[in-house]
Amino acid sequence: MTKDGYFGKWGGAFIPEVLQQTFKELGEYYRQAKEDQEFWQEYLDLMSSYSCRPTPLTHAGNLSNHFGGAQIYIKREDLNHTGAHKANNVMGQGLLVKRMGKKRVIAETGAGQHGMATATMAAKFGFDCTIYMGEVDVLRQRPNVFWMEKMGAKVVAVKDGSRTLKDAINEAFRDWVTNVDTTHYVFGTACGPAPFPEMVSWFQSIVGIEAIEQIHARHGRNPARVYACVGGGSNAMGIFGRFLLENGVELVGVEAGGQGIASGRHAARLCGTDASAGVAQGYRTMFLQNDDGQMLETHSVAAGLDYVGVSPILSDLWEQGRVRFESATDDEVMEALDLTMKKEGIIPALESAHAFVQAFKEAPELSPDDAVIINMSGRGDKDIFTIAHAFNDPSWKEFIIRRGQEYSEQK
Ligand SMILES: Cc1ncc(COP(=O)(O)O)c(C=O)c1O
Repeated sequence: MTKDGYFGKWGGAFIPEVLQQTFKELGEYYRQAKEDQEFWQEYLDLMSSYSCRPTPLTHAGNLSNHFGGAQIYIKREDLNHTGAHKANNVMGQGLLVKRMGKKRVIAETGAGQHGMATATMAAKFGFDCTIYMGEVDVLRQRPNVFWMEKMGAKVVAVKDGSRTLKDAINEAFRDWVTNVDTTHYVFGTACGPAPFPEMVSWFQSIVGIEAIEQIHARHGRNPARVYACVGGGSNAMGIFGRFLLENGVELVGVEAGGQGIASGRHAARLCGTDASAGVAQGYRTMFLQNDDGQMLETHSVAAGLDYVGVSPILSDLWEQGRVRFESATDDEVMEALDLTMKKEGIIPALESAHAFVQAFKEAPELSPDDAVIINMSGRGDKDIFTIAHAFNDPSWKEFIIRRGQEYSEQK
């Protein structure tokens, strides 16, 4: 990164005057923390005592036999507290907020996992907490909304635009501009104005640091490939970060192919779609936008991948050819999920299942002496309504109808 937050020609900090001082301060706190061994040690202690780190690397023996190619390993970010990698970033930012002396946090969330993690952190550290979430996502991820509220957070359903993640981000920025003295915006992914992309990637780097040690212990050497799903890019940056230093490890980011790239109903930006460079939400990256720079509607079965932009660090790595980008459709995701549950007894989040799709396509072309790692960014419990609906499970449908009737009779 350059001093002003650029990665090649991507990134930067396009922020309103009123936030300039706050960003300067945040950058300084971040840099001090990064140079301070004690800060990282405090972070490691918190993550091991509160969030089950290090998360395991599981050998998926049945899936490996099924495909008859590479040994498939799964990095289990689902076993983090709150069920996803989001806790890594949030707890780190929480420690920074304590250092900054602020008392209120706000966040945006798509799948609800970042909101859940932020509400958890706020409860633990005693901060006031407001979470912005698109109205569509509130409906898709109702269980997470319920828990956020129960932990004391205020959840605001955003009704603007497509009522998904980008609209929630806009609303969170509006709040921040008004309450900048008391409030820190806990950005949830490796996007946004500098220093967020680098700072979020730093907190997430714990994933790759653990994974390389674990794969060496289990497999004796580097994996051939590492797969991660890509929404804003934080879990991908987390696991890729350490492997970027290793020659010969191929890094594969998997975006939301939705109903197929040709349908236009997807959220794929770097895998050969017609996304283009632009500046929005405070940074420069590849966006899904029309010729006038208006953001396009996106679609994915996975709420956490349904975003128009992508980490500027990944745009740079894409341009350098260091990370390969692919996409997985909603249907392929359901198939991969089904197989993983049946063969391994593991339930990936819909977001994570995108990475599984691509690994399953490619595992047979590798040798059984090779290893691949799939970053399982989160667990699928939050997706029970979407998954049950997609599988058209009759007993689940009956259960929901019966509970609905019980509630309306109680009224
Ligand atoms: C489980 C899970 N995986 C992946 C993502 C995508 O985010 P990112 O690309 O920042 O890892 C999300 C976002 O909400 C998520 O909840």
